[in-house]
Amino acid sequence: MNEKNFMVVDFTKKIFAHISAIGGYVPENKRTNSDLEKITDTSDEWIVKRTGIKERRILEEGLATSDMAVSAIENLIDTYKKDIKDVDALIVATSTPDMLMPATANIVCEKLGIENVWAFDMNAACSGFLYALDMGASLIESSRYKNVLVIGADKISAYVDIKDRSTNILFGDGAGVVWLEPTNEEGILDALLLSNGTGKEFLNIEGGGSLYPASSQLLVDEKRYIRQDGKIVFKNAIQSMSDTCVNVLKRNDFSVEDVNWLVPHQANKRIIDAVGNEINIEEGKTLINIENYGNTIAATIPLCIWENTSKLKKGDLLMLTAFGAGFSWGASLLRWTI
Ligand code: ACO
Repeated sequence: MNEKNFMVVDFTKKIFAHISAIGGYVPENKRTNSDLEKITDTSDEWIVKRTGIKERRILEEGLATSDMAVSAIENLIDTYKKDIKDVDALIVATSTPDMLMPATANIVCEKLGIENVWAFDMNAACSGFLYALDMGASLIESSRYKNVLVIGADKISAYVDIKDRSTNILFGDGAGVVWLEPTNEEGILDALLLSNGTGKEFLNIEGGGSLYPASSQLLVDEKRYIRQDGKIVFKNAIQSMSDTCVNVLKRNDFSVEDVNWLVPHQANKRIIDAVGNEINIEEGKTLINIENYGNTIAATIPLCIWENTSKLKKGDLLMLTAFGAGFSWGASLLRWTI
């Protein structure tokens, strides 16, 4: 039991989860558009025009998703002077775990030296952070957990075919984390999260699971890489994110004018702009950092908030939205409380 929270929160009243701290980490090593020009038939001009991306960060070999998650958590602890020993649940949203088992969340606990934590991974690809945030909020709202870390972390570079110009331009590595605590004031308000299986042929990493276990044939078939039909993903992403934004606002009696900041998954600047147009959000209210990091899968949303915290005011209404493999997608609403 965390004494500090126990004293300030009245557990007989409605409990909200709220974000009390945030952290992030990106590797130092950059992969620029000019690096890619040397590898495949592409150009800086084409990549910037079609995706908005200038560079991505790539984690060095020998390090894994858990290392970035730990660095992001250390950044949070340094900034907000939190005590890691208070954490009672830890969720890692990732589709690039260190290993198939144990969960990356378990490895993160070991690296941080914490025990007695309910720790597990959640795989909802690029929607992973939104799914994990909702799960973490539910744990807090249940009053059974008081300090929950929700991490989005992916080393997607391990699955990028550097010779495939339809994917090598898009993806980079990174990690972001938020610390959730209970409050009687508004915090995380709602999440509308959806999925179907119909996207599996259009965006996947087929190899390495139980269907196509690791083997030398896997390398021949190149099933170890991320593959996609960019156009189908593009269209579905815009429609799905726009629809869930509109619907989550409607069911909470908000209009788009009430939103102070839209934080979309950073997959392609053209997708971000199209969603903004579809939902009719005022220009300048959308947070974007795709230029420097590309698509970091489950990490894009927490990284984007983390980099923009100086713009956010206490009480601001944030709408987060994501779309990814599955397909899986959704939109969340929260009050900024830091
Ligand atoms: N460099 C230079 N030229 C290229 C490149 C490249 N990297 N890729 C394609 N081209 C060429 C094509 O050959 C084509 O040439 P043509 O007109 O002579 O035939 C032309 O550029 C247009 O190609 P398209 O495939 O139509 O390009 P598009 O505008 O669809 O952009 C992209 C491709 C960037 C992959 C886009 O479809 C996209 O971003 N899709 C979404 C994918 C995505 O975000 N996936 C991540 C996971 S899901 C998520 O996070 C939402």
